[in-house]
Amino acid sequence: MSAPTQVLVIGGGANAEHFVSLGSAAAVREALSESGHRVTGLTIRRDGEWETLAGEQIGIAEAIGRLRDSDVVFPALHGESTEDGTFAGFLECVGVPYVGSGVRAGALAMDKWASKLIAEHLGVATARGVLLDRDSIYGDPAQMPLPLVVKPVASGSSYGAARVEDNDALAVAIAEARTIDSRVLIEEFVVGREIDVAVLRLASGEIHIPPPLEIGKGTEEMFDTALKYDAEPNFLLPAQVTPAVGEALRRAARAIYEALGCEGVARVDFFVRGTELVFNEINTMPGMTAHSQVPRMFAEDGVTFAQLTAMLVESAYARGARTT
Ligand SMILES: Nc1ncnc2c1ncn2[C@@H]1O[C@H](COP(=O)(O)OP(=O)(O)O)[C@@H](O)[C@H]1O
Ligand SMILES: [Mg+2]
Repeated sequence: MSAPTQVLVIGGGANAEHFVSLGSAAAVREALSESGHRVTGLTIRRDGEWETLAGEQIGIAEAIGRLRDSDVVFPALHGESTEDGTFAGFLECVGVPYVGSGVRAGALAMDKWASKLIAEHLGVATARGVLLDRDSIYGDPAQMPLPLVVKPVASGSSYGAARVEDNDALAVAIAEARTIDSRVLIEEFVVGREIDVAVLRLASGEIHIPPPLEIGKGTEEMFDTALKYDAEPNFLLPAQVTPAVGEALRRAARAIYEALGCEGVARVDFFVRGTELVFNEINTMPGMTAHSQVPRMFAEDGVTFAQLTAMLVESAYARGARTT
């Protein structure tokens, strides 16, 4: 099997995380060029149409042709209608190897309720929560002590997530979250440190987990959109945890990654309350700039961003070769 050389990086997406994805795509293109790949790019506009990096609109047939001309596609796409398995399904139909998780893992990971149920089944604690579906409620909101967190079941970049101190604010927060997803999660507010773990499956099938990262912020504070993007977030590397907590984090992150059937790299986010882990969520296409959490964690292990993106392309290509 020869090495994959022609990589097509897709950025943008018809969702709220469009601009975050554009940032990831630009960074991935640059990193892959550094490691000697021939890199091209396409953008999915917010209206769902495709365009070249020069801003020229192309039709879907043309886009599919370009996908098929690539050795590997790198979907640097975050959020709804992309990372949730939709785009993986599209690429499966097109028949081209791609970086990252397939349909099932993407869909399960994007659903914060489903991923909670799976984590709990694996023996990993999660925040007490209630699901408000369109017409039904799973759990008893009256039993939930304030403060609470309200968030859309499927979202990202903290859009629609809010801390709620009283019942009046609860109704407002639910209405706000519903503008993003008709299904809404109400959770106990977990007072704890926020620690992320990256899990990568290499081309050999082996799992690589670099040191965890802590989000530097107060334990009562949310890692909200402003903290994420308005200024450079404060990441503490490596997170200072006891060997026992470190081992528990690695085990839990790996178990969730494998139970969902993830591929490529995923970021598994936890709260750590004393020595207790509480799973928060998993991202199957985490932020991909050199300053994002996952590349920073690998850098801590001596793996550069260029090497990380090259490893992702290699494992996608190896997987493609095994399945075709
Ligand atoms: N149950 C919770 N308790 C405390 N903080 C929470 C809780 N759920 C979410 N948060 C805070 O809100 C942020 C965004 O929520 P998250 O579930 O990670 O959604 P997103 O997919 O938008 O990142 C988290 O990083 C965390 O700071
Ligand atoms: Mg998050």
